[in-house]
Amino acid sequence: AFAGGKADAPAAGKKDLIVVGYAQVGAESDWRTANTESFKSTFVEANGYKLIFDDAQQKQENQIKAIRNFIQQDVDYIVVAPVVETGWETVLAEAKAAGIPVILSDRMMKVSDPSLYTCWVGGNFLQEGRDAAKWLDSYVKKSGRTNEDLNIVILQGTIGSSAQVGRTQGVTEGLAKNPKYKLLAKQTGEFTQAKGQEVMESFLKAYPKIDIVIAENDNMAFGAIDAIKAVGKKPGKDIIIISFDAVKEAFNRMIAGEINADVECNPLHGPRVAEIIQTLENGGSVEKIMYVVEEVFDTENAAAKLPTRKY
Ligand code: AHR
Repeated sequence: AFAGGKADAPAAGKKDLIVVGYAQVGAESDWRTANTESFKSTFVEANGYKLIFDDAQQKQENQIKAIRNFIQQDVDYIVVAPVVETGWETVLAEAKAAGIPVILSDRMMKVSDPSLYTCWVGGNFLQEGRDAAKWLDSYVKKSGRTNEDLNIVILQGTIGSSAQVGRTQGVTEGLAKNPKYKLLAKQTGEFTQAKGQEVMESFLKAYPKIDIVIAENDNMAFGAIDAIKAVGKKPGKDIIIISFDAVKEAFNRMIAGEINADVECNPLHGPRVAEIIQTLENGGSVEKIMYVVEEVFDTENAAAKLPTRKY
């Protein structure tokens, strides 16, 4: 009964609209803006929903407060894009006790009891990291830089978020396979452009020769580009840039030759979550873990792909 909807019958007089509380991470990136927009445009009255939206400003304590508010308001479903992976057991148990299904979207949670949430839908961050390392391997071969030591820095996302954990793991596993890859440093830029720029500035000061930057999202890559230009170097040429998300602006940057490759992370989860809710409302069951299919883009196909991009 828990996975299929609320255990108790709806209180008398309750509206027909399905009330969904969305505990969003924040507004740290273009990706996040597209994700918020996807929920706000899907969960509208015309589609039979009332959305209660909360922006946690990248703070877990704010998200926990938002979830408690949703429980108090007796929403029908709680959707969470968790800032970080751990520390959710208590509040999820409270939602479970209230009979409110919790759907995870985008980032994952690590919980000891999987029955604390109904299901999860999002991108495969580990695979994305591996795809980035694979793209680098192919670039090195194509460009004939196989005999060169390549100095690499990683701009990481929010530490402890599943997007950071998976991408860092996938990338570092890939880098470890080639002794010519020298990982100089990795540091968080919090998934924001400003912090990405700041960390890149400090990397450029600390390391006179950086060949490759791997930015765990586009906004940090945009910040890194500004930092690289500020020291008179050419992003995409003097320093190869690999990024994640593949938002529209990143396509412009690939077309301009400033970002070399971008691993897609699809933010358009609103309709996916709505489909899950409809299945549950109809008494159906859903897969516990649902991965979204994602691609890798680079300077060779960016111009052709840009017109098809939705975010
Ligand atoms: O969880 C997805 C990540 O979060 C995106 O890569 C990033 O842009 C966002 O902030």
